[in-house]
Amino acid sequence: MAEKDIHRIAVLTSGGDAPGMNAVVRAVVRMACANGIEVLGINRGYSGLINNDFRKLTARSVDGLLQRGGTVLYTARCAEMMTTEGQQRAADNCRYLGIDGLVCCGGDGTYRGALSLARLGVPCIGIPGTIDNDIGCTEYTIGFDSASNTAIQCIDKLRDTMQSHERISVVEVMGRRAGHLALNVGCAVGAAAVLVPEHEGNFEHDVIEKIRRSRINGRHHHIIIVSEGYSMTTQEVADRVQEETGMDTRVTILGHIQRGGSPTARDRIIATQMGSYAVHALMEGKEKRIVAVQHGQIVDIEIEEALEMKKTLDEALYNAEQSISI
Ligand code: F6P
Repeated sequence: MAEKDIHRIAVLTSGGDAPGMNAVVRAVVRMACANGIEVLGINRGYSGLINNDFRKLTARSVDGLLQRGGTVLYTARCAEMMTTEGQQRAADNCRYLGIDGLVCCGGDGTYRGALSLARLGVPCIGIPGTIDNDIGCTEYTIGFDSASNTAIQCIDKLRDTMQSHERISVVEVMGRRAGHLALNVGCAVGAAAVLVPEHEGNFEHDVIEKIRRSRINGRHHHIIIVSEGYSMTTQEVADRVQEETGMDTRVTILGHIQRGGSPTARDRIIATQMGSYAVHALMEGKEKRIVAVQHGQIVDIEIEEALEMKKTLDEALYNAEQSISI
């Protein structure tokens, strides 16, 4: 595709933060600088665009960002960006600031904002950044691996004390309405049961019977992972487990700790690849795309099409976990 004349681009992070977002910012800035393009960092997602809250970024100002958790650009969920007035103001500000293209890192809400701007003439490229890995068009979202590893480290520690006291640990993992993070974590910690919204199934069979059977087999501590989107609350799960098995049960809600920390190698690398790809996409004249991983390759997809795509749980992994956790 022909190279487009681009002088200045902007980058923002929006929605819930995810480890690796800073690595995206760094890659965008460095790749732009390498091609003689100026970069503005927009603070607080779309709210910064609406309120002209930005700073100039240079190759040196992003030093040290690769390994840093959170996002130095701050992030926000911006209600104003859902209104036509807010969208128009953001697009007008882009024109006023001479922004030839915008890179937006976040989840579905971020892409809807990008789509509205693209329709108003501002070329936008989205990058999937969320610990939930719940974006339909891509096999992977930046932050998922780091959040999985953070949860795994915490649960490994929990297992030590559960084992000593012969208890059951019921652990709530984030993921909004999707069970990808819970399944990943449950599999990696060898959970007795993983409760996800995609499989509301049979509680008695999937949890209680399983624990009874494995107790008979000589196991005296168990980890149960509950995805935050599951129909029962984590406390309800724990109460029922304690009541029906008679075992001492404790609840742990991992919460926002899963969103923090230094990104893993996988997140640093994919953030670098996607950030670089996004700058090239703008240089090639692409205007309304999302960077995604499909069949292990980095590709880009039309935003409207991407928003229509649904992601299903990895059923093979779920079935393997169900069979192995005996
Ligand atoms: O989308 C990321 C996420 O951490 C979800 O897993 C969770 O449901 C939500 O954000 C929490 O949002 P907040 O930071 O607004 O409490």
